[in-house]
Parts: sequence; C-alpha cells; structure tokens
Amino acid sequence: MNILGIETSCDDTAAAVVVDGHTILSNIISSQHAFHAKYGGIVPEIASRKHVELILYVIQEAMSSAGLSYDALDAIAVTHRPGLVGSLLVGLAAAKSLAYCHHKPLIGVNHLLGHVYANFFARPDVELPHISLTVSGGHTLVLHVTAPTHYEILGHTVDDAIGEAYDKVAKFLGLGYPGGPVIDQLAKTGNPAAIHFPSPLMHSNDLNFSFSGLKTAVIRYVTDQQQAGQAINHADVVASFQQAALKVVVKKALDAAHEKQVATITLSGGVAANSALRETLMREAQPRHVTVLYPPPVLCTDNGAMIAGVGYHLYRAGVRSGWDLGAYATLPCA
Ligand code: KG4
Ligand code: ZN
Repeated sequence: MNILGIETSCDDTAAAVVVDGHTILSNIISSQHAFHAKYGGIVPEIASRKHVELILYVIQEAMSSAGLSYDALDAIAVTHRPGLVGSLLVGLAAAKSLAYCHHKPLIGVNHLLGHVYANFFARPDVELPHISLTVSGGHTLVLHVTAPTHYEILGHTVDDAIGEAYDKVAKFLGLGYPGGPVIDQLAKTGNPAAIHFPSPLMHSNDLNFSFSGLKTAVIRYVTDQQQAGQAINHADVVASFQQAALKVVVKKALDAAHEKQVATITLSGGVAANSALRETLMREAQPRHVTVLYPPPVLCTDNGAMIAGVGYHLYRAGVRSGWDLGAYATLPCA
C-alpha cells in the first residue's frame, strides 16, 4: 500500500511516500530555518507563505524520487493538528486537492502520533504499550502508547516546551536559530556543574513539566553577570542549562515507565536528536532494565514519512477523512 504523507504543521515543508507503513521510498524536507533565523524564532506568517511557495515542488519531488505516479497511491495522509493553523491549512489544501483530483482517500493525521511513529521504521516490533517522551519545539509530553494510532497523555508542559526553552536561551545568547543543535554541540565543551539552575517540577509527584522559570533563570544569571562586568562562559551556561532541563525529562520518563510497568521508552520530536538526552536516558534506564529507542535525526524533526506511516495504520483501521477536514492548533480532547 503506497501512502503519500504531507507535513506542514510548523516551519518544515515535507512530503514522503511510504510503502506498507515501513519502507520509505522518498522523504523530502524543505527547511525554512534560514528565513526565520534572523528573527530568532518562527514567524507564523512567513511560515505559511513559504509553505505556499514550496509545497507543490516538495510533493512533486517526493513522487518523482519514489518513482510513482499518483495512480499508484492508495491514500493521501496529511497532518491536520496540532500546529500553526496557517501552516497546517497549506498542507491540507494541497492534500485535499490531490485526493479529490486523483480520487484517493484523504486521511487526517495527528502530528504527535507521527513523531511517535518515527520509531517504528527501524523497529516495527517495538513493544506495545510503551512510554514515549515526545520533546519538540511545540511539545513536551510523556505518552502511554498503546498502538501506532493511539496514546494516552500522562504528562505535559504547563508553559514552554523544552525545544522552545533551547531556542529562547540560544536567541538570548546570540547563538542563532534553531537553538537546540547549537546548544547540543556547545554544551559538550562546557561544565554542566558550573552554574546551578533550577529543574522545575522535579519533585512535583506528577509527570508534568515547566521550562519558563528555567529560561528566566538563565537570562537573569547572564544579565547579572554582565552588569557585574563579569565575562560569560557560554559553554558553561548552556551545559548547565541543558543539565537542569534534561534532568527532569529523564526522571519523568523513567517514572512513567515504572508507573505503567513497561520496559521500553521511545524518544521522539526534534529534541530527541539531542546527544546528551540520548546518553543520559540510556545510562539511567539500563540498570532498571528499560530499553531506550530513538529514531535517526532526520526522522526526529518534522517529516512526511512519519505522517504516511501513521496514515497507513489509520487506513487499515478504516479511517477516512471528509473534505471538511479542519486544521486545529490544539490536540484532540479525547
Ligand atoms: O519536531 P520539531 O522539528 O518541530 C516541532 O514540532 O516543534 O522540533 C524542533 C525543535 C526546535 O526547538 C529545535 O531547537 C529542537 O527541536 N532541536 C534540538 C536538537 N535538534 C533540534 N534540541 C536539542 N538538541 C538538538 N540536537
Ligand atoms: Zn514536530
């Protein structure tokens, strides 16, 4: 079964063709990072305009790299929530037009299921249920995943997402956008014990997160040092920030695995590409006999393959979307 997956929920214009939910024939991603970099974060209006410019080329490239004609597709899957509504609408309009013209079923996909699914390409037999730590620029979630098409939210951020904190700290320090990969590299040369930053909600007895206070603590520290005429060691600042942030997500993912009695944790979302997160979680999971899995970096960040993968399972479950499929900023209530 050949599924075309389309993803435009944020600032990546992406399309992919996947066979039977596991074989990726093509996975085209056009990143808009360069257009947003000078603002130090995503500008929603620019994101939707760039999607409009790029979407048809990206889809065409996905189809030609896969070597397939539209006739050979069985369905078209598209991210319809959660995300920037203006961005989502572009992918939705493209998916609906193609599905209508080529008489193909349309399937709306939850972006978060897509992120979780990125792990299934390398490991179609990944244990179910398992715990997913979904960490991106828009989300920080602990999920109990019971099927490729179903999860229960166990914990979430009460303010900023972890990726957002990385991006804002990087912006404040003038390190560029997106901040995650830069901090990942720079932190390797710094001392994580140099500065004590708080790890909010570390002992909250639930699985929720908060990163706004940590971001403010970093900004306050740097400002105070500057005002006192002290030199700032950027590597030490980001290494200490990263340690404070990762401590909480690692603890809560392990707590969730214990609570639900599962032996596998999968990582997903852009921040899952972080080397310190992977190393720390694996190191702490091992003595508890918990296996940690993570996708290759190209499948951690937004892509169309993960949407086509979930689309395949939804298709097999009989799910079809109508032409009135809407774009929503939020997660479904259920
Ligand atoms: O999943 P994604 O591509 O888009 C959203 O759905 O948000 O995630 C993007 C986020 C950005 O905040 C970026 O800074 C972060 O993922 N990120 C990283 C790394 N690579 C990307 N954060 C930490 N370490 C990385 N290596
Ligand atoms: Zn994402």
